[in-house]
Amino acid sequence: MAYGALRVAVIVGSTRVGRVCDTVGQWFAERAGRRDDLAVEVLDLAGYAFPGRYPDEATPDMRRFAAAIGGAQAFVVVTPEYNRSFPASLKQAIDFAYDEWRAKPVGFVAYGSGSAGLHAVEQLRTVFCALHAVTMPGWVGFDLLGDEIDECGRPRDTDHRLRAIGALLDQLSWWGRALRAARDAHPYVS
Ligand SMILES: Cc1cc2nc3c(=O)[nH]c(=O)nc-3n(C[C@H](O)[C@H](O)[C@H](O)COP(=O)(O)O)c2cc1C
Repeated sequence: MAYGALRVAVIVGSTRVGRVCDTVGQWFAERAGRRDDLAVEVLDLAGYAFPGRYPDEATPDMRRFAAAIGGAQAFVVVTPEYNRSFPASLKQAIDFAYDEWRAKPVGFVAYGSGSAGLHAVEQLRTVFCALHAVTMPGWVGFDLLGDEIDECGRPRDTDHRLRAIGALLDQLSWWGRALRAARDAHPYVS
């Protein structure tokens, strides 16, 4: 079977008013979009009106979100660190899909104020393990309080950071293509 570019969803995980996550997500998506093995789209959680309480039946926006996850073949989650974890907005959205995550690769771009977001990443690995997704060892992280951000709030393209992005995307591309072929050859275990 002939396969096209891997469909990657870059998930903007913070919906906070005044967030930097949308800027960071766009910055990352632009760099990922330069590769011709990847077809990148940004999936912004602020674009969904999710319910305050988990409802009996999925709402239209919950279904729209699950469909977007189902349509993607790989993910990069962009997340800040909140109290040594990741934001509630992200956990809420992750829990609105299940089968749609399975047997797909997930990478991380993280940041914090004082930390580079490692606590958020490590906790997300546990969550995605429960969803039968495969997390990438390589990740991109930076500290908003360091000199890693320019005057527009965009991460600086240091050599170190561009290498980290390249490694993450190489891993995501390899796993994404391998898992796409595997899912097509055999349905994932139920
Ligand atoms: C509720 C809350 C908790 C936070 N906890 C941490 C933390 O544990 N470690 C850290 O490095 N930064 C922490 N921060 C700082 C955030 O990383 C920083 O505010 C960042 O801009 C948040 O991302 P956002 O603007 O995209 O929402 C916290 C911020 C908030 C709002």
